[in-house]
This record gives sequence, C-alpha cells and structure tokens, in this order.
Amino acid sequence: MIRRLVVVGLGLIGGSFAKGIRESGLCGEVVGVDLDPQSRKLAVELGVVDRCEADLAVACRDADVIQLAVPILAMEKVLALLATFDLGDAVLTDVGSAKGNVVNAARLAFGAMPARFVPGHPIAGSEQSGVEASNAQLFKRHKVILTPLPETDPEALAVVDRLWSELGADVEHMEVERHDEVLAATSHLPHLLAFGLVDSLAKRNENLDIFRYAAGGFRDFTRIAGSDPVMWHDIFLANREAVLRTLDTFRTDLDALRDAMVAGDGHQLLGVFTRARMAREHFGKILAQRAYVEPVEAEDLVFLASPGGSVTGRIRVPGDKSISHRSIMLGSLAEGITEVEGFLEGEDALATLQAFRDMGVVIEGPHHGRLTIHGVGLHGLKSAPGPIYLGNSGTSMRLLAGLLAAQSFDSTLTGDASLSRRPMGRVAEPLRAMGAVIETAAEGRPPLKIKGGRTLNGMNYEMPVASAQVKSSLLLAGLYAQGTTTVIEPAPTRDHTERMLRGFGHPVSVDGAKVSVTSDSGLKAARIEVPADISSAAFFMVAASIAEGSDLVLEHVGINPTRTGVIDILRLMGADITLDNQREAGGEPVADVRVRSASLKGIEIPEALVPLAIDEFPVIFVAAACAQGRTVLRGAQELRVKESDRIQAMADGLLKLGVSVEPTPDGIIIDGGQIGGGVVDAQGDHRIAMAFSVAALRAQAPIQIHDCANVATSFPNFLALSAQVGMRVAQEGQL
Ligand code: S3P
Repeated sequence: MIRRLVVVGLGLIGGSFAKGIRESGLCGEVVGVDLDPQSRKLAVELGVVDRCEADLAVACRDADVIQLAVPILAMEKVLALLATFDLGDAVLTDVGSAKGNVVNAARLAFGAMPARFVPGHPIAGSEQSGVEASNAQLFKRHKVILTPLPETDPEALAVVDRLWSELGADVEHMEVERHDEVLAATSHLPHLLAFGLVDSLAKRNENLDIFRYAAGGFRDFTRIAGSDPVMWHDIFLANREAVLRTLDTFRTDLDALRDAMVAGDGHQLLGVFTRARMAREHFGKILAQRAYVEPVEAEDLVFLASPGGSVTGRIRVPGDKSISHRSIMLGSLAEGITEVEGFLEGEDALATLQAFRDMGVVIEGPHHGRLTIHGVGLHGLKSAPGPIYLGNSGTSMRLLAGLLAAQSFDSTLTGDASLSRRPMGRVAEPLRAMGAVIETAAEGRPPLKIKGGRTLNGMNYEMPVASAQVKSSLLLAGLYAQGTTTVIEPAPTRDHTERMLRGFGHPVSVDGAKVSVTSDSGLKAARIEVPADISSAAFFMVAASIAEGSDLVLEHVGINPTRTGVIDILRLMGADITLDNQREAGGEPVADVRVRSASLKGIEIPEALVPLAIDEFPVIFVAAACAQGRTVLRGAQELRVKESDRIQAMADGLLKLGVSVEPTPDGIIIDGGQIGGGVVDAQGDHRIAMAFSVAALRAQAPIQIHDCANVATSFPNFLALSAQVGMRVAQEGQL
C-alpha cells in the first residue's frame, strides 16, 4: 500500500496516471502539483487527484512516490528543487520521452543518480492535451519502458513496476542508451521528417497549388506534423545526440537513393522498395514477434472442429512448400530474372524469401503466388545485416546451411522454439567433412554459426538417414566445391532439388542411389510453375476418403513419384483415388486427384513408402483410426524429430479421442474404431493441427485443437478451403 503519491505536472500523461492510480485504490492519497491554477482546480473537480498544491515542497511532504510528468526541459529545474528537500525514502520516477538527459539532470542536481529514482517512459498519448483529457485507461495494453541503472534500488523499481501494471500497461526494462536510440529511430526521426517536409513545401511560393494537389501520400506521411511543437522542440533538444546519429544514417541511405536515381539504377530502387514494402506488410507480425523476428510466447490459436459432414467440390490447395523454397534459392543464385508462379505464401517459404532479400537479392512479390527474382549469380550474395531468422522452417535452415557454408561471408541461422530443438548435426557434420566451419549449440541444435571464406571439397557421402534436406544441403554446397560432390541415399527421397537444378541448366548426374554435382557451371534463370502441394492435398484425400458421401477433385497436384507415398498407402487401405489429366508443369508431373469415400481397412505400411510419405503420416494416422482393423507403421523414427515428435503428438491426441493406439520407438500401432470428441494439443505443429481437423469428420463430438497458429507455415488458407468443401472447422470464437 502506497500512502501518498505525488504527481508533478497535470497534463494528459500526468493527469491520466494520477486518475488511473486514484481509481485503482492502490494509494491512500493522490496529490497533484501544477503551476497553472486552472489545471489544479479542474484536477480536483474531475476526480483526477484528491487535492492539489501550488508549492512543490508542500506537495512532496511525506510522499512515498513522486511522479514527474513535466515537459522534458522543465525536468532539470524540478529535479534541482527536489534535491533541496528531505525526500526521506520516497521513490522518484518520471515519464520523459528521452532518458539520457533526465538521468544527467538527476546526477547534476543530486550529485549522483539517486538509488530511489526509476526513470520511465510510457509509449502512449493522444492528440488531446491538458488535465481535462485525463483518461484512466490511457496506458492499458501500452508499453511502458523503465530504464533502471545499476545503482537503482530493486525495491524502488518494483514499486514503479507495480504502479504501471496496475494501470494495465506492459512494462519492459531497457538500458538508457538503448531506449534513446530506439525512440530516436522509431518516433523522433519520423516527427522530424514530417515537420521538415511540411515546412519545406509550405514555404515555397507555389505552396497553395502543392497543398491543393496533396492527396493521400502527403496526408499520411505528415499527419504527425500536427503534434505539439513545444513538446517536440523539447524532445529534440533532450535527445539530440541519438537523433543526430539516426538522422545521419538516414541521410546516407537517402543519398544512396538519390545516387540510384541519378544513375537511373532501377534495380537499386526496386531493391529498397520491395524490402521496405515487405517490412511494412509484416509490421503486424514483427510486433506480434512472429515469423521474422525472435518469437515470444505466441497466443494460443484454437480450432474447433465439429463432427460430421461430407467433402465435395473442386479446389486447388496452395503451392508445394519444398518447391517454393527451392525456387527462391536457385532463382537467387541464377544469372538473370526468374519468374515463379504458384509460390506458397506460407510463413516457411516467406522465411526463405526474407533470408535472400536480407542477402541483397531483389525479389518482387509475392502477388497471387507470382514472384520475380532478380538473380545475383552463384557469387553475388551479400552478408545479411544480422542473424537470419527462419521461424519454424527446418527446410530453410538445412538447405541454407549448405549454401552459406560456401559463401565468402559469415552467417548465423536461428529459428523458433520448435526449430531450435531440431537436429542440425545431420547437415553440419558432412558439411564440416567438406571443409565447412559450422558451430552449433549443444547436441547439434540451432543456432548455426557458419564461417565464410572456406574452400569446400567435394566428397562421397553415404547418408545415414533418408533425408532430402540433407541431400539438398550437400548438393547446394557442391555447387561451390572443388571436384565432385556425391550423395548416396539409403532410400529414395524427394528429388526437387535435382530436377530444379537441371531446369536452371546445371547438370546433375543420377546413378541409382547416387546423385552428383560439380561446380563447373553456373545457373541460368528459368520459369517455374509450382504445383499444388501434395502434402496439403493429403488432408483432403483422407477427409474425402473417411467422410461418407464425399467426392472431391484436387486440382493440379504435384505427383512427383518421390512424393506419392500417401496415395499408395491410402490405396492399399482401400481408398478410391484416381489421377486425371496427368501432365508435366515446370519439370514436375502434376494431375487432378479425384477422391471418393471408401471404407478403409488397416494395413502394415510398407517401410519403403515411409520416406515417400514422410510429411503425411499425421493424417494417415487419422485414416487408420477410421479404418477397420489394425494399422502398423515401422521404420519411421524420423517422425520424432519433425516440427514436433509426431508419433507422440498424434498418439496423445488420438488417445484423448478414445482411439486405441500404441506408439513404438519407430512407429505406431493403431486399431481403427470410433473417434470420440475432446481437447487435443497440436503442439505448434501445423500438420498435427490439420490432421485433427480432418478427424472431426468421423468424430462423435466436437474436437477442440490447441496451438494451431503454425498452420500458417504451410497452408495459410486451410480453414477457408475446408469450409468450402464442407468441413466444419473454424477458429474458436469465429464460428
Ligand atoms: C523436405 C524434406 C523432408 C520433409 C520436409 C521438407 C524438403 O524432410 O519432411 O517437410 O523440402 O526437402 P527430410 O528430408 O529431413 O526428411
């Protein structure tokens, strides 16, 4: 309990703080101080404070907490006065938009930074001002940055933390210098530019005309030039050094844009604009800390799947994830312009796209699945400005490891919590044997720190696991290695890298299980048509098979023989699947896949089909749960190191739904029967979330599926397409 809170300065921020704390009942008495008699009177009348004082010394008598909410340049004066009082144990804090100057002023006034002074800055405000605009809710869900110093008393910090939390604010701690740098870049510089641009245009003779024709762009860019000039004058003087640094960096970048225009360098302009547009589009995600930056706890996205329904119609599922990744990689490394169609705009493929943009490749789009990649050639990549964050995407990390091991610059690859648990030793070890220098975290986990400037040597590598990612990683390294790089597969795995390399004019020799490349030739730009992803189509193949009265056509599905294990397995179980209109698109076979309901039976899944259906097992397990009799899977221990441990995650969920399952070290045994309803956990794994959505077609009660946000990594419009064909699954709360 705080007996007395004193708020010095009753403007919008001080008034809102006082009012909120007063309403919370956390303080015995809230006392206001302001120079303006009218504000003091209003503050009491409006219930912002219990009483007001004109004299600072009188107000601060017996205060427990003193909040300084005066204009930032007035802070020095107030602090100098406070230093002459006996403040006892009072905690001091402030709300200034720059922190370095406040800390300096406090040091000057008190001789040293007082341990009970906690500098703070709420990132909130409004265009209104004055005590009459006080709003107890102003800070709710807004960030408040506190910048404690090493000498700050932890107890005083806890008191200030508590006060802001009571107002519903999200409190963060930051170093003083960092705060001032961040605010200079994100708030102060934009205000300077807005004020500057409006003034520059307004003082020209023809300003009337300019303003008459100034439409959206001018209005949007300069909205903040309507802010309080005095307050901003204070802020620029208070945070002068940090603003000057960010302004100078910006001037350099602006000069580079000017130079590009002088030189008629459209490529350079396009690079800046496409990168900026992407960053702006994903601003929301960046703020939610998903996909392009280090994640914090993402919110739980819950699917609710209602029982029953049949599956009918014609749909095209989004583009193949594996091929989408490779189109960016090879398109970037090619000479010339590569056009891509059907690109998967899911978070995994977008993470690869962003990585190459960060390495200086100009990529236009994606727009309705279309991309234009301005290839830089095998030796044209540049070092990314920081660590490359790959979200949830194992394919991005493993393939990039091979490619980056051969570059002249160092790189660091990081990922989300799931990716950070996945084994990377399987690529790091053979790459090291080729001469790469790669550091991993314990047990070969990410992040990967890759040293540049190494000469790689080709080698013969017998892969211990059947992995297309490992194979592709080594082949990409092989594009730079001396001599021949040969990978020998223990069982066939997807061959998209080999096909696409040939499509880009780079020879690949295949001899049985042996795949070889050399560094003797480069890549030439190509057109790529990405077929629909059979791994996404698989959810609907099982859906239409298990739901009575179903008849569904999945258009333009990639049926590369290294990917069709799911069709073979479902057919062995008795599914009715036909392939119509078989043709070739961009070096990959495609077909329209028609699926009608059938009564399925349990089988022993042939082990040879495991690598050819590796991503489809979660939904195949759902088919098995609906089949008559027992289904047994062996030789699939790889499933334990996917985005989740897919054997355990599916076994846990199916058990909850009343299905009889037994996980084994390398597979699962499922006895088909009734599926009940219940609550299951997708464990952040997109394919587990979608598999349980399909299970609801045959469930007896609703299935609630937790942790589904990552469906966006591979199948962003899954819910919309599901609804279109008659499945009853939706995001909870949006039914
Ligand atoms: C992929 C290969 C497979 C697959 C993954 C994509 C690829 O992984 O599970 O979703 O694009 O090469 P492994 O090769 O590690 O089995």
